[in-house]
Amino acid sequence: MSQPLTADIASLVDLVKSNPSMEASFRALVVLLGTAPDSSVIVAALGRLDPGACPSPELREQAAALLDKADSPQLAALWRPAVATNTNVVPLHGEAPKPQGPSIGFDDIGGLEDVKRQVRRKIINPFRDKRALFEKFKRKAGGGVLMYGPTGCGKTMLARALATECNASFQDVRAADILDQYVGNAEKRIAGLFEETRRSRPAVLFFDEVEALAQRRQYDSSRGVNTVVSALLTEMDGFAGDNEGMLFLGATNVPWSLDAAFRRPGRFDRTIFVPPPDRVAREFILKGALEGRPVAKDLDVEALVGKTGGFSGADLGALIETAVDYAIEESRSDDEIEPISNAHFREAFREVRSTVGEWLGQARNFAEYANGDGTYDELAEFLKKYAK
Ligand SMILES: Nc1ncnc2c1ncn2[C@@H]1O[C@H](COP(=O)(O)OP(=O)(O)O)[C@@H](O)[C@H]1O
Ligand SMILES: [Mg+2]
Repeated sequence: MSQPLTADIASLVDLVKSNPSMEASFRALVVLLGTAPDSSVIVAALGRLDPGACPSPELREQAAALLDKADSPQLAALWRPAVATNTNVVPLHGEAPKPQGPSIGFDDIGGLEDVKRQVRRKIINPFRDKRALFEKFKRKAGGGVLMYGPTGCGKTMLARALATECNASFQDVRAADILDQYVGNAEKRIAGLFEETRRSRPAVLFFDEVEALAQRRQYDSSRGVNTVVSALLTEMDGFAGDNEGMLFLGATNVPWSLDAAFRRPGRFDRTIFVPPPDRVAREFILKGALEGRPVAKDLDVEALVGKTGGFSGADLGALIETAVDYAIEESRSDDEIEPISNAHFREAFREVRSTVGEWLGQARNFAEYANGDGTYDELAEFLKKYAK
């Protein structure tokens, strides 16, 4: 039973509706609703407005608080700008526990010996074994590493494995999640995230697809993204709290579109190139994916490895699934199974192509013309060998 709106509230609602970007009228409405004698007025007024059109997260939060008081939790949830408010502990993925998956180590990653060696030398050893020495010498161990390379080639996987190898806890942060959930109260939430991570040190704080932050920083400055990013960078710098025993890892397939601010010393100041799977890696991935499936005796995995140069891990996955689909199509029943054969793969090769080539083409420009500071040395090295 909703109360008719008073004239001034009704006219404010109309005003806001006709021009939702006018923050002043939104604000006036929220103030007015705060004094409304009957809480059903609050529900009726805010129910007529689109929370998504409200320009200010702070106002959305105030509206949500009003709706809470008005005993309308569902509408409040629509208005609330972030998942949880007024708390320092930040549930990154809503209320549900984070999907943690089984822990993986370097043994689960095929090939890529060069990358593993580098990661051991540049990251794991200093982080794991030298921490005491670093402390003695009062050398700041902080800073971060940016992994870059084509999509589907194991960056995310490598990050998880790295945390395992460091005996560190793993805090997975998706840039896009931060942006969507942290608008409003950004500083507090980022601070909460770092606080939480500090409590479980040694810890790896992993920013997957970190370019989402940098890009939106440029194009979406109106929506409080800048505050989120600034808060993040400030925390990384360690002025707000001690970052000893924390490793920042970022992953991206477009390192060149990352805001320069991310690359300053103490932030993502080192880079590691994660190339497409080499022969050993491809064999590892193919054999792993075929394991336990009905396979024809003469299936030539060696030939598949040879023919999939330039396939990403994800491409290989798609190739196998496609071949498997053909085998299933040909199988008549549970008892008359057609095992996965070379012919099925021939069909699959017609449909699934490498997605890496395009990336390498683009990357070549940056390796050649934007490598003044040596950021892309490893990429340049790879491209030289790859071209042969
Ligand atoms: N060297 C590798 N060894 C084993 N699996 C790999 C390897 N490279 C890629 N993969 C597989 O390919 C898929 C994509 O990897 P992912 O880490 O999500 O790539 P990225 O984060 O670089 O986009 C995953 O299923 C992963 O298991
Ligand atoms: Mg990834």
